Amino acid sequence: MGLPRDPLFWLLLLLVASCSGILLALFSSVGKPHPGPRSGASTAQEPVCFPDVCAVAKSQEAGQDLACWRSTTAPQAFSGPKATNARTSKGQPCRRPLALAARRHPHFRDLFDFSQPVLLSGGLFTQELWDSLSQRKAPYGWQGLSRQDIASTLSLLNGSESTQLFGPARPRQGCVRCAVVGNGGILNGSRQGLNIDAHDYVFRLNGAVIKGFEEDVGTKTSFYGFTVNTMKNSLISYKKLGFTSVPQGQGLRYIFIPSDLRDYVMLRSAILGEPVRKGPDEGDRPQTYFGPEASASKFKLLHPGFISYLTERFLKSKLMNTNFGDLYMPSTGALMLLTALHTCDQVSAYGFITSNYWKFSDHYFERIKKPLIFYANHDLSLEAALWRDLHAAGILRLYQR
Ligand SMILES: *[C@@H]1O[C@H](CO)[C@@H](O)[C@H](O)[C@H]1NC(C)=O
Ligand SMILES: *[C@@H]1O[C@H](CO)[C@@H](O)[C@H](O)[C@H]1NC(C)=O
Repeated sequence: MGLPRDPLFWLLLLLVASCSGILLALFSSVGKPHPGPRSGASTAQEPVCFPDVCAVAKSQEAGQDLACWRSTTAPQAFSGPKATNARTSKGQPCRRPLALAARRHPHFRDLFDFSQPVLLSGGLFTQELWDSLSQRKAPYGWQGLSRQDIASTLSLLNGSESTQLFGPARPRQGCVRCAVVGNGGILNGSRQGLNIDAHDYVFRLNGAVIKGFEEDVGTKTSFYGFTVNTMKNSLISYKKLGFTSVPQGQGLRYIFIPSDLRDYVMLRSAILGEPVRKGPDEGDRPQTYFGPEASASKFKLLHPGFISYLTERFLKSKLMNTNFGDLYMPSTGALMLLTALHTCDQVSAYGFITSNYWKFSDHYFERIKKPLIFYANHDLSLEAALWRDLHAAGILRLYQR
């Protein structure tokens, strides 16, 4: 009777009612702590990105969009269902642990063995291990190396911190997100520094120049990986380009790649804080490379069996059957990236070789463009194909531009 018949009125009323319903829901959700993943909080047109890292970097960047990944080639696995669960923080379970993606992949599930020990510690040194590793040359074993030298180094790696990369600080059920930063020219002008630093752990290697390149490569270093040979070569070759010392810092850990006896010898001296007693590095003071802290917890040793496993399964190069077979080994960057893939829950690779590598200089810190040269000691084409395939499989996120 007194009610209007105009359908428009009812439509408007309905609209007001539903809007206030939405508002009510919004207000009540503000007051309540969210038990589960947040939904609907992000915008639907968010660029394809690595959501967990994105969220962290974004909050630091106060709205700037640097954090997100605009590559159209990024696989669905990293874009995820839009606008859901985009915010996770340290200690929360992973949205997409790489081990799961690896187990579901028809090719990679047969390659990944997450039970392989990554690090070599004193506790693993047995007669059996000696017998097996002394059959193979370094970096895959100990052929021709003195048992005394190996044993005296390994006896110092006898604490539990030598068996694991992350130590007790690693959140038990959380998601460990790692960035591995290679030194490729693709990082010049990339402005990825904040994204890199937003990861829980950052791996760097060899001539990792940071000063002057913070915007592109970040500042955080959790792990520095090297062989004594590559570290000292980098200090010589890139000194003029700014690599005047290896990264140092209190929380920083060093990962020795045992490519030669000198790595075991230097490692022992580094833990003891005394000058190197023999070999090509005799007289070197490890503190000049690694800073004043000399303790077993500062230094990690990659397991030669792990290097064999990686080479056999992931980087079995045709170069191994040539005259250069004895020279060949995976690059330092490849070993660090594969180490991260076997220890972290999510891995982003920056500064690694991509299909358009020829567009960029060899290293990001060069002043004049220098082409990347493929030497016979590494198989960079094979490595490029591996990163591409791991990226496509959603196991790795490879920075590309
Ligand atoms: C490791 O070995 C050193 C020297 O042999 C010894 O002092 C130390 O107590 C050992 N630590 C552990 C955790 O066994
Ligand atoms: C680095 O990038 C700048 C532009 O961003 C370019 O002018 C320069 O040539 C690049 N350096 C090298 C060594 O490629």
